[in-house]
Parts: sequence; structure tokens; C-alpha cells
Amino acid sequence: MKVKGVAYRTIWVNGDGWSVGIIDQTKLPHAFVTTNLTSWEEAAHAIKAMIVRGAPLIGATGAYGLALAMRADPSDAMLEKAHTVINETRPTAINLKWALDRVRNALHNQPTSSRAAIAYQVAAEIADDDVATCSSIGDHGLKIIDALYEKAGRKRTINILTHCNAGWLATVDWGTAIAPIYKAHDAGIPVHVWVDETRPRNQGASLTAWELNSHGVPHTVIVDNAGGHLMQHGSVDMCIVGTDRTTREGDVCNKIGTYLKALAAHDNGVPFYVALPHSTIDWTIRDGVKEIPIEERAQEEVTVMSGRTSDGEIVPVTITPEGSKAANFGFDVTPARLVTGLITERGVCAASEAGLTKLYPEFA
Ligand code: MRU
Repeated sequence: MKVKGVAYRTIWVNGDGWSVGIIDQTKLPHAFVTTNLTSWEEAAHAIKAMIVRGAPLIGATGAYGLALAMRADPSDAMLEKAHTVINETRPTAINLKWALDRVRNALHNQPTSSRAAIAYQVAAEIADDDVATCSSIGDHGLKIIDALYEKAGRKRTINILTHCNAGWLATVDWGTAIAPIYKAHDAGIPVHVWVDETRPRNQGASLTAWELNSHGVPHTVIVDNAGGHLMQHGSVDMCIVGTDRTTREGDVCNKIGTYLKALAAHDNGVPFYVALPHSTIDWTIRDGVKEIPIEERAQEEVTVMSGRTSDGEIVPVTITPEGSKAANFGFDVTPARLVTGLITERGVCAASEAGLTKLYPEFA
């Protein structure tokens, strides 16, 4: 996507041929800053500290992390160590393990002299595949938005609610949930997006709003609890969210609060779609509530908020009484029965094993 007229992906190899460029997402929306990863430890830190985040992007970053590790030391011991440490940085999004395994499998039985080059090559393939995959998700999702526009007589704006950030910043480019919105907007369909702020880290207010603003897509930021009210009043035509792990039976794990949006959508007859690439499907599990590990993060993400003052200074502010504990669950699981459809790069399917395996027969 373009930032002030310049085309960016969220991760790239620099002109030196080895260091890896990323956008520091902790600085947005106040500043657009890029930074470099020069070691696998820096890649692991960038994922853990959420300098990069979003399931597909942490997968691509993990893959480049292994490439940086192989450049430093192409031994089996280093491969295993970097794989383990990077994989443990964030437990919920399966894309991370998927990408790390893909690089490790490609290096199996390869001479140490060629391991770094192979790892960079596979990481580049993962990144390129993600761009093509997300673009296809956008094309399939566009058809759903267009059908809603048709149903509305092509006369009025289509209102879409999204949660967290599943835009281009969460992937290598395009995004998952936001890709159909970009494609609809670019095709001239009037869309307006209700952006859940997404406490505690505010990925909606800070990142989704920044993306949509940069691309000129009309949007309004709302507090996380507003969605149900808007749906009751007919102000939401559809919800689209991303996912960090989807089970083979179609249960969907995504940013905390997604489940409550799905319940409200179900109660109000609002279609609730989930957009995902193949790398987000965990074919080894069935029951999302029982089997998906939910990341728990620091209390301070809940008790302390930061924002920009009118002087441009970023200041942290504590919002809870001293002594109050906070719990910070990063994700929740929306059962398949609440999902209208899964938008994948291969098409749209029911959130069920039958639906998914029809699109991905190799996993039947
Ligand atoms: O904690 P984050 O910011 O990494 O969470 C991101 C999300 O929950 C996204 O919705 C998800 O990764 C799908 S993104 C394409």
C-alpha cells in the first residue's frame, strides 16, 4: 500500500541483500517509522514487543528471523534454537509456526554453505505468497460487498464493522479482513467502516484507522462496546474480521472481543464473515475453545494508556487505582456456528470441516 505516495510492504530485504526492513507499528498513528532487523534475536524481539504484529506478518518476520540466524550460524543447533525461541514469542497465531516450519523443512539435509541463501529464498516466497493470497481474499470478499450493495439498490453506503487490525499492516500487503474493503472502495462502491478501537492495545483506533485514513476510506472509530447498539439500529450491513488461528471445524480465534461482536451479529441477523489465508488454518485441531492457546500479556497494557498531547508529546497515563489487578487475554474464540462464512484465497466457504475441505481437498 502507499504511504504518502510511496509503495510499501510491511517487510522487505534492504539493498545490502541481508538486513530486513520493517515498519515500527508501535509508533503509529503518530509517526511512520521504519527500522531494521539485523539478527534473529531482533526479529524475535520485534514480534514479542509487537513492533510487527498480525498473524501473517509475524509468520513472515519469523521466516526472515530464521534467515538471519542461518546467516550468522548455519548449524542445526542454531536452527533449532532460533526456531524454538521465535516460535515462543507469540503462542496464538499459527502462521508463526507454519512459516518457521516451512523454512526449517526447506533446510533439512541442506549443506550449511547454502542454508542462508535457501532460508532467504523461502522467506521471500512466504512474503510474496502472502501478498497474492491477501489480494485474492480481497477479490472474493469484494463479491460479498458488491452483493450487499446490489441488494441495497446500489443507492446507499455499505456499513462494515471490523475489529482489531486485519489490514495491510497485519499482513505483508493488502490485509485479510480489510482487503475486500480496499477492493470495494477502489471499485467505486461507497463503503464506510465502523472501526472498533480494540482495547487494550488499540490496534483499531491506531492502525486500522490510520490505514483507512491513508487510503481515503470513510470510517468512524467506535468504542469496543458500541457494535451491538449499532447493529440493533440497522447501522451495520456486515462484519468482517481476521483470525489468528482457525480450526479444521471452522472455529475462529481472533483478537479479544471478536466473540462478543459475533454474538451481537447473530442476534441481529448481521452477516459475520472471517477472512483468512490458508496459513491460518490449524488442520490438527477441531475445538477452538478447548485447543487454542490464548496469549496473556502484561497487566500494564490494560492499566496504562498512552496518547499524544496537543504538544505532540506521547505520554503514558495510568487509568486504574493503585493495587487493582488487570487480566489481559489477547484473543478469544468464536464458535463456527456464529460465522456466516470464511473468505479465503480459494473462495468463500462455510465455517465447517466440510466447507474448508471442499476448498482445501488436500487436507480432507
Ligand atoms: O495482537 P495482534 O495485533 O497481532 O492481533 C491481530 C489480530 O487479531 C488480527 O485480527 C489477526 O492477526 C488477523 S490479521 C490478518
